[in-house]
Amino acid sequence: MRANLTRLLLGIGLIVAFSQSAMGQSSSDKDYHRARWDKLHFKPAISQATNAQCLACHQEILKRKPLEQSPAGVKASEAKAWYETLDTYTGPQETFHRRHLVTDYAKSVMDLKCTTCHEGNDPRDETSGTSATTQAGLTMRKMVDPYVCALCHGQYNAKKMGVPGPWLEKSAMFGDSCLTCHAGIKTERHKGVSFLKAKAIEAAGKKDSDVCYGCHGGRAWYRIPFPYADKHWPGWGDPPAGLAKKYPKKPAQQAKQ
Ligand code: HEC
Ligand code: HEC
Ligand code: HEC
Ligand code: HEC
Ligand code: HEC
Repeated sequence: MRANLTRLLLGIGLIVAFSQSAMGQSSSDKDYHRARWDKLHFKPAISQATNAQCLACHQEILKRKPLEQSPAGVKASEAKAWYETLDTYTGPQETFHRRHLVTDYAKSVMDLKCTTCHEGNDPRDETSGTSATTQAGLTMRKMVDPYVCALCHGQYNAKKMGVPGPWLEKSAMFGDSCLTCHAGIKTERHKGVSFLKAKAIEAAGKKDSDVCYGCHGGRAWYRIPFPYADKHWPGWGDPPAGLAKKYPKKPAQQAKQ
């Protein structure tokens, strides 16, 4: 039995090794520094990279599990953070990456790629402008431009919508549904955004407003709402890859606002 298993594993190993070298992108023959400075980490190559290419070296991103218990003895299975109390939150504690890429809910409403968030950063400087060869447009000390997070983790803009207070306090006035108004207002919302599953979002949002609220205030890490549609914040660089088509260039007059 064990011998068979060993042979099987050896076989799989050989197939993997063969297919990697056949594809000309063997990740295992690179030493640490060559891998760290692989051109795939940087623009322009990173803009074309697939998840599979990144995962060839970074399997840990999808494999890692949170601790079952904190050093002080709190069990992960019994702990919930405030942002894990929406109806859409299900299953055991998972890592940040898994919650955006592979958990059931993530897969049902989103189609995020590694490169939606990772657009390349300079591992030595983590900022722009320190030398002639530095990458332009880096967000200081960040591997990921938080612009992309703010898209789904900004505040709920009650004032702009004419909702007379925080959504969780006033939602009953609107039948607990965003669609009471949004069946007719801004209906083109998610179409054409490469990392969202527009149809699935609408279907799920009809049944439960926590779906909509979840990306529009229910897990807000920022004090301000995201200025959607055509507004870009001054100095926040180019739109993330998934939105580049929709917003080809930052309008100059808005950048000055
Ligand atoms: C050839 C192997 C290889 C490939 C392919 C690869 N990486 Fe890496 N990556 C590394 C190594 C090695 C490090 C350094 C890890 C460390 O220091 O702990 C690293 C570090 C990183 C970091 C941390 C950056 C920092 O400043 O510390 C990020 C983020 C990252 N990779 C994302 C990606 C993404 C996204 C892709 C696909 C576009 C990718 N990697 C493809 C090997 C690779
Ligand atoms: C939702 C946005 C998002 C997506 C999608 C995403 N990442 Fe990340 N990733 C982050 C953030 C944020 C960090 C932490 C950055 C920091 O510490 O400055 C990070 C950190 C990392 C790191 C370094 C630290 C670590 O945890 O080891 C690696 C490597 C990495 N990501 C690889 C990937 C790969 C490979 C994919 C695709 C399979 C991916 N990421 C998809 C946002 C994302
Ligand atoms: C396309 C929308 C989208 C983007 C972009 C996005 N998130 Fe999220 N994020 C979500 C959704 C949806 C969930 C809830 C997942 C769940 O409940 O299963 C979530 C959950 C989280 C959580 C909680 C994870 C947990 O275990 O409870 C953190 C932390 C988080 N996001 C941080 C970030 C950061 C930081 C970024 C930017 C690097 C980011 N998100 C980008 C949609 C997004
Ligand atoms: C009382 C009616 C009403 C309800 C209920 C409502 N909205 Fe709105 N919403 C609006 C109006 C009107 C606008 C357009 C405001 C403008 O452009 O000035 C809007 C705009 C938005 C925007 C764009 C904001 C921006 O800055 O451009 C988002 C996102 C949004 N709504 C999400 C939601 C979500 C999610 C819910 C449910 C949690 C919800 N809305 C419930 C009326 C409503
Ligand atoms: C997985 C995260 C996610 C979910 C779930 C989600 N949205 Fe969005 N929504 C976004 C992102 C990202 C954008 C920005 C898209 C763009 O700029 O094209 C957006 C844009 C919008 C806009 C347009 C803003 C503007 O001014 O153009 C409205 C309105 C809106 N969402 C309402 C809703 C409603 C209603 C629901 C539930 C049916 C919902 N959203 C569910 C992420 C989400």
